[in-house]
Amino acid sequence: MSSKVSRRQFLNYTLMGVGGFMVSAAAMPMIRFAVDPVLATSAGADFVPTDQKADDVTDTPVRVDFTIKDRKDAWYKSDVSNTAWVYKQGDTVVALSPVCKHLGCTVNWGADDTHPDEYYCPCHGGRYEKNGKNIPGTPPTGPLDQYEVEIVDGYVHLGKTMPNQLVK
Ligand code: FES
Repeated sequence: MSSKVSRRQFLNYTLMGVGGFMVSAAAMPMIRFAVDPVLATSAGADFVPTDQKADDVTDTPVRVDFTIKDRKDAWYKSDVSNTAWVYKQGDTVVALSPVCKHLGCTVNWGADDTHPDEYYCPCHGGRYEKNGKNIPGTPPTGPLDQYEVEIVDGYVHLGKTMPNQLVK
């Protein structure tokens, strides 16, 4: 068997190589466009300012609404409204997520007349203590998440949620 490459074969190989290069050169930007926003890490400040003055926070939880500006969700940027239950434990400002650990409804402080010093979830009667601990015998299976908190120029700034650090 001859190992010689005919002129026709050489031309075929060359055209396949050039064609493959051109296809991959055209496809790379498209693949990058499709994947890049998903892989990109969110940059910038992680803490969001609120209108809540730290000095005005007491040991009774208050609802604090805040907006995350230009939240990037893959290809889209939008403002996202959020809420926290904020109170003071000693000198420390604590902020809890209102998202119920049962099926994700929103809990409210003092909303159940028979248990005024608890968070109450209206969806299935879930209840939590002030520090977010879920009350046994009610549907939620874990404590409310906690926000990272920073005090900047006297105002409460809120970061990401994390697992509750207050409940032992
Ligand atoms: S979603 Fe809160 S108790 Fe079910």
